Amino acid sequence: MIKAAVLGYGTVGSGIVSVIENNADVIREHGVDMSVKYILDLRDFPGDPFEDRIVHDFEQILADDEVKIICEAMGGIEPAFTFSKRAMEAGKSVCTSNKELVAAKGAELMKTAKENNVNYLFEASVGGGIPILRTLNDALTADRIESIDGILNGTTNYILTKMEQEGADFDAVLKEAQEKGYAERNPEADIEGYDACRKTAILVSLISHKSANWEDIRTEGITKISPVDFEYAHVLGRTIKLICSLWKTENGYGAIVSPRMIDKDNPINCAQGVFNAILVHSDMLDDSLYYGRGAGRFPTASAVVGDAVELARHIGEHFSAGWSDEAVEFESPDNMTFNYLVRISGDKSTLKETVFRNADIVDAGIEGETAFLTGDMKEGVFLSEYENLPNRISYIRLG
Ligand code: HSE
Repeated sequence: MIKAAVLGYGTVGSGIVSVIENNADVIREHGVDMSVKYILDLRDFPGDPFEDRIVHDFEQILADDEVKIICEAMGGIEPAFTFSKRAMEAGKSVCTSNKELVAAKGAELMKTAKENNVNYLFEASVGGGIPILRTLNDALTADRIESIDGILNGTTNYILTKMEQEGADFDAVLKEAQEKGYAERNPEADIEGYDACRKTAILVSLISHKSANWEDIRTEGITKISPVDFEYAHVLGRTIKLICSLWKTENGYGAIVSPRMIDKDNPINCAQGVFNAILVHSDMLDDSLYYGRGAGRFPTASAVVGDAVELARHIGEHFSAGWSDEAVEFESPDNMTFNYLVRISGDKSTLKETVFRNADIVDAGIEGETAFLTGDMKEGVFLSEYENLPNRISYIRLG
């Protein structure tokens, strides 16, 4: 019997305990007998079915040689980083759903795993329950990954889907999402795109085998998207999604996280509401699409426990892939090329003196403003011309 400890008994942690214990028969059929010996949390949980396994002191778990696997579901950098590192130094393998930690300290934790002949897995850190990292690491090892486009944040996808369906304002939908528990009380990491950006950085690190600094990725959130933007999108047969894109360049990678007007028939538009979708383009397989629940108690726990089972199969053997601490070279975001939809107040006459004088006008019947498509432009050139428009309202990238 393999004994595991779960760090953090919140939404994901309690899901992990429940999956290990309640699906023990399924896991056993895959050749692994596993149970949870300890649950670490600061709180007590009187009346909880696993109340007897709650401990408050990490040292108790660390000192117990019977515990071979740690499922970390604490979130944040500390103490999750210190606990994960010390656990691996003590000969225990670790799996996690903590994308913040993986994006910030992944290389160091993978090195610790290697040095101690244990493993560090983090499937749930990108795409929640969707087995995307294992697919990239295992199934697609013979392919060169040329690009990935993904909807990697469930909260923002829920908000944008509702705005599209109901013509509602961002603020109203965010409030409703918070009331329903889909959005955090402090939603900044989701709505400003940081969560999606960290996941993008993890994907770049994984496929490049180097460390991608998430702060090097140009990131825009969805807070400025309005119902009027959706009206223009509809005229163009498009919708608006928060898209994470990464692609191989000659010397490194390009990456950007931003709202985009995508074709309604783009395969990743299958992700509605809290769902995620990831479109991988690789040189041998061509396009492949991965879809599912990117967040939530049981979908996330499914991925973490899948990792725990894999760890159990490799006790005493280091197998987990990782990336080095060498920095990924990112292409300057200003060299990226996009077609932009720009909104300005007033009529098109003000464009006469600008580089946009021949742009295609998009008429959605909105009074008091004009919208146009720039055609393909380098981002750096576009942004400086856009800043010169005195009556600018907003822009959004197409594609
Ligand atoms: N806040 C994240 C989301 C949770 O909305 O997708 C899963 O990483």
